[in-house]
Formats: sequence, C-alpha cells, structure tokens
Amino acid sequence: MGEEGELAAEKHVRYIVTAEKKKDSFEWLVMEHLRASGAYWGLTTLDLLHKLHAVDAAEVVDWIMSCYHPESGGFGGNVGHDPHVLYTLSAVQVLCLFDRLDVLDADKIADCILLQIFNITGLQNEDGSFSGDIWGEVDTRFSYISICTLSLLHRLHKINVDKAVEYIVSCKNLDGGFGAMPGGESHAGQIFCCVGALAITGSLHHIDRDLLGWWLCERQCRDGGLNGRPEKLADVCYSWWVLSSLIIIDRVHWIDKEKLAKFILNCQDKENGGISDRPDNAVDIYHTYFGVAGLSLMEYPGVKPMDPAYALPLDVVNRIFLTKQQ
Ligand code: FPP
Ligand code: ZN
Repeated sequence: MGEEGELAAEKHVRYIVTAEKKKDSFEWLVMEHLRASGAYWGLTTLDLLHKLHAVDAAEVVDWIMSCYHPESGGFGGNVGHDPHVLYTLSAVQVLCLFDRLDVLDADKIADCILLQIFNITGLQNEDGSFSGDIWGEVDTRFSYISICTLSLLHRLHKINVDKAVEYIVSCKNLDGGFGAMPGGESHAGQIFCCVGALAITGSLHHIDRDLLGWWLCERQCRDGGLNGRPEKLADVCYSWWVLSSLIIIDRVHWIDKEKLAKFILNCQDKENGGISDRPDNAVDIYHTYFGVAGLSLMEYPGVKPMDPAYALPLDVVNRIFLTKQQ
C-alpha cells in the first residue's frame, strides 16, 4: 500500500483495464450481479483520467445493450439478469460517457421507469416515492435514480415531479440531513440522493444549507477522511457522497480539502493500482471510482471536473444539456 503523495493515475488506469480480464478473481465473482454498475464506476474513472479511449467503445456499447430487456425497457446488472432501476441508470450513464444515447429508445426506458418495468401501476407510488423493482422496496435512492435517469433522457416531464419532491422533503430530518424513508436516520449516501434529486429538479430551496452543511462537515474525521454517519470510520466513498452534497449546497469550503486529499491518496495501492475504502485495505473498483471522483470534486490536477448531481464528468453533462434535446 502506498504512502501519501501523488495520484498514481497510470496505475489506476491499468488496474481498471486489466480488472475486466481477470475473470477468475474474487472481485470478478462478487461483482457478478452488478456488472453494469461496475462498468459505470470503471469507465467513469477512465474518463476522469482522460483515458476513456483505452477501451473499445463499440464493444462496451454492445455489452451494455446485451443487458437490456426490450420487453420491459429496463437493464439488468449483467446479461440475463432481471432489470432494476439502478442498473438502468448505470447503463444510461455508460452510454452518456460514449455519447451513444442514440442506441436507446428514450421513451421506452422512461415508460419502463414509470409503467412497465415491473408492474402495471408503475414504480412511482401514490405518495411520490419510488420503488426499485417488482418487490417494491421504497428508498430515496430510487427517487434519485429515477429522477437522474429521466433527466439524462430529457424525460423528467413524464413523472409527477412535485410529488417526487414532496416525498424527498418528507425524508428530511431535524438535523438537516435525509434518510432512506420518512423518519430514517440521516446518512451521507441518502443525503447525496436527496440533495442530488432536489438539485436536478430545481428544488434546493427545501434545504437548510447551513444546518445540512454543518452535519456534512462533521463527517470529517481526525485522519482527514469522511464518514457516512456519526461514530463511523472514515471511508473513501464518502468523499463523494459528502463532497458532492456540500458542493451542491455551496458549503464545500467548510471541509479541510488538503487533509481529505491526503486521506484518499493514502488509500492507493501505488504498486498495482486501485484505491481502498481506508488505508491498508484491499482495493476495489467502487472505491477507486469514488476516490478519483472525490479528488475531481476538489479540483485535483489532471482529473476532469465532475457534475456533483449527475455523477458524470462535467463535459459529458454539458454535452447532454447544451445540445439539441432529443
Ligand atoms: C452508501 O452505501 C451509499 C448510499 C446509500 C447511496 C447509494 C446511491 C445510489 C446507489 C445512487 C446512484 C449513485 C451514483 C453515484 C450515480 P453503503 O451500502 O456503502 O453504506 P454503508 O457505508 O452504510 O455500508
Ligand atoms: Zn465505502
């Protein structure tokens, strides 16, 4: 495991590009069911490091489309797996990276999120909340995922945005944070989902920025890293969940960025590439992505800037919203 210092960008690129080939590795096995999200994490990291061309775009697009279920309009986490909104967002994000949304029938995907994917009544419930799949688990993660996907496809008008916002606001706590459902404990991952969804829908006026900013800044631990809730250890992925929320509410200057950057850099495997959740742990693609993404949000040299709400490189998001709507 490396000492703190520079970002070992080339090593991380090699780690990501070769990870796909190590099909007998433990990581490959445990990632089986969420390969579409793994593709989003790995490919976005490559793009942030200006190395997206290291992979064959046509091959990636073909593989992503092999996870598509034309009968429902959703994507599975892997070929032959059941569709779920999370993998549908990951698939759409990957296609955005390659500027290949043209391979999709945007209305079909949108209708799938609304109506078809798992049941007849649709995934948006009466109270404005969203379920992730046929089993109907409700969570503000699914509100974010549905809102982000529809927005990237220019199809946000297809849902009842006011109701969706109302539901997210009902998950706000007295400490300024948000939980997975009304009354659920504040958690930085859910806060990202709620703040991101409110940003995308132009509803940030529902947030008490100072109160939430205070809660989020309290996440910085003595080692410089950020945790997801009080009393938890710092973890590299929270660099993303916390910083993105702080940027959206314009309170990121309340964090000691230098200490946080050092914490992330200390979690690198400088020999074989990759970033772990905390120093000296085994690396994985999820923490590699969120480590690099966290550095991006802190304007680390050589890393492309990211959009904190859409969780994609800024140039990709600009291309989607500044060009003609489909
Ligand atoms: C912590 O998870 C993170 C969350 C609860 C937020 C997850 C958000 C999504 C899946 C939406 C899509 C995200 C992006 C970036 C496009 P955890 O299970 O690691 O929590 P723990 O630290 O409590 O174990
Ligand atoms: Zn983590």
